[in-house]
Amino acid sequence: MKILVTGGLGFIGSHTVVELQNEGFEVVIIDNLSNSSIEVLDGIEAITRKRPLFEKMDLRDKPKVQEFFKKHPDVEGVIHFAASKAVGESVEKPLLYYENNLGVLVYLLQELTQKNKANFIFSSSCTVYGQADTLPITEDAPVKPAESPYGNTKQIGEEIIRDTCAISPQLAAIALRYFNPIGAHPTVELGELPLGVPQNLVPFITQTGVGLREQLSVFGDDYPTEDGTCIRDYIHVVDVAKAHVVALQRLLQGKNESNYEVFNLGTGKGSSVLEVIHSFERVSGEKLNYQVVDRRPGDVIQAYADTTKANEVLGWKAASTLDDSMKSAWDWELKVRR
Ligand code: WQD
Repeated sequence: MKILVTGGLGFIGSHTVVELQNEGFEVVIIDNLSNSSIEVLDGIEAITRKRPLFEKMDLRDKPKVQEFFKKHPDVEGVIHFAASKAVGESVEKPLLYYENNLGVLVYLLQELTQKNKANFIFSSSCTVYGQADTLPITEDAPVKPAESPYGNTKQIGEEIIRDTCAISPQLAAIALRYFNPIGAHPTVELGELPLGVPQNLVPFITQTGVGLREQLSVFGDDYPTEDGTCIRDYIHVVDVAKAHVVALQRLLQGKNESNYEVFNLGTGKGSSVLEVIHSFERVSGEKLNYQVVDRRPGDVIQAYADTTKANEVLGWKAASTLDDSMKSAWDWELKVRR
């Protein structure tokens, strides 16, 4: 069965391609290589011994998207990762984000709704909740006004899919709201490859640990939390990848309760920035050089998932601990920097 993975050479996309191939799916990847590299294909093949089909394409080119679906009428499902995802950049380039994250989504849905049956998995984010009033966060927590165009594209993207599914019974979709994916594949053949200075905590920690960065800046320790630093739900990228396969199989087997469903992907455990730093120090045996600086605008204080629906309805549960994830991230950093 052929599955299209857009953005399949990216961090979460590539790990999901591995899990799809492990389950026997035939995978075709579309990626424009704007935030990934072609060598990731070698990493996938090194793990699964199967090289996925790959088409370099910018999905903003609507005729090319139409041509792809004519060439691959046997695509039974689409997992859509391809999107711009840097919160800060989205504030400076909103139209790029609305075109790339929403225009492309419309083109894909226009193709899928022409098929007799289509299954669609959407890469969403806990960012849609903003600072939730109640923790842990359930899927029916109110969606808060987005703090960035990036977050807005996730909210609007979910609404576009919901409205399309409402009038397209032939389309079944699941939106997966990721908390904070971190780590790397245990074979050290795949991992996070942030371009330039990492915006996210864990790659900045590992790059500091390996000497690529001088010092980690901790963005504020005066928050109303136990140790004063922000709390997030850090989940191993392989756990996130496996959830995508479970969600796709749910749709392929017709187990979905409606043709548009939403699930949180988290561990259910919140960890503070300092706890993540201490986890790194435990698994690496290295002391991390960091200093506390001012808060980063836009940061929410706490976000961690209520995993009940994902565990009991979707039938998926995260398996890795924070230390497992940090160890895999560190092993990957050591390999990439050798
Ligand atoms: C985590 C914590 C920072 C860097 C973002 C997006 C979200 C998703 C994941 C795409 C925060 C602190 C960070 C640093 C620090 N992206 N931090 N020093 O902000 O929770 O989520 O990335 O889907 O949509 O919003 O992740 O890793 O940037 O930050 O102290 O150098 O680490 O303040 O408390 P975040 P993050």
